[in-house]
Amino acid sequence: MSIIVTANQKGGVGKTAIAVNLAHGLQRELGGKMLVVDADPGASAHKHFRRRQEGDPPYVLVGGAQPDIHARLPQLMQAGGFDHCIVDCPAGASNVTRSALRIADLVIVPVQPSFCDFDAAEELMPILHDISEVRNELQVMIVISRKLPGNNAYSKEAKAAAAEFFKMEGVSTIIADQEISNRAEMVRAYSDGKTVFEYGRRRGVSCNEFTNLTEEVAACLHAVTA
Ligand SMILES: Nc1ncnc2c1ncn2[C@@H]1O[C@H](COP(=O)(O)OP(=O)(O)O)[C@@H](O)[C@H]1O
Ligand SMILES: [Mg+2]
Repeated sequence: MSIIVTANQKGGVGKTAIAVNLAHGLQRELGGKMLVVDADPGASAHKHFRRRQEGDPPYVLVGGAQPDIHARLPQLMQAGGFDHCIVDCPAGASNVTRSALRIADLVIVPVQPSFCDFDAAEELMPILHDISEVRNELQVMIVISRKLPGNNAYSKEAKAAAAEFFKMEGVSTIIADQEISNRAEMVRAYSDGKTVFEYGRRRGVSCNEFTNLTEEVAACLHAVTA
């Protein structure tokens, strides 16, 4: 059983976009039964699928903005026969997020390639540090999200800058090699209530990015939960 949590102090950085797309990628890659818990009181993961024309979302999606999710989720997963779960947290570090972080195997922190975003996400690190003290298998993955197009220094050096910035003794942090670009395809997927994997031959760069990110996350989970 593996639990991934997406979290960041800031809104609009791509937590939900990564959660809903990565969940589909992982379901395809790992097999088994995937659960997505929408822990945002604003129901953002549910809103992602609101305009979907055909069929249900590609995995089970439930609400779960509860401050005792750490106690409930393992039971819920066991009862439903789920193998993997992604919990999509709201912005901030409310009790709901703190509770979800307590049972995470992997915490994904999407950050836009800007020090403003790094500064905001930094506030999560002491929380992750405290959790790592009792759960030293916890893995944190920083994902550069909504990367701007063009050949600018911020984009080129984002991963190296993040590696330096988020280094903290006692917290196992890696920077995802694959970055997620800011692309119209992602906006299209939201408008269609689909994931980037559902476009057949019309799938594009975002699908490739999520395919690669899926592989990295799968490898990471394998190492953490082995
Ligand atoms: N890689 C991306 N490219 C383009 N738009 C994106 C991307 N990631 C997120 N968005 C859009 O940005 C907005 C905020 O993203 P969201 O995932 O909801 O952020 P968060 O969950 O961190 O608040 C949404 O409208 C979403 O569709
Ligand atoms: Mg969100």
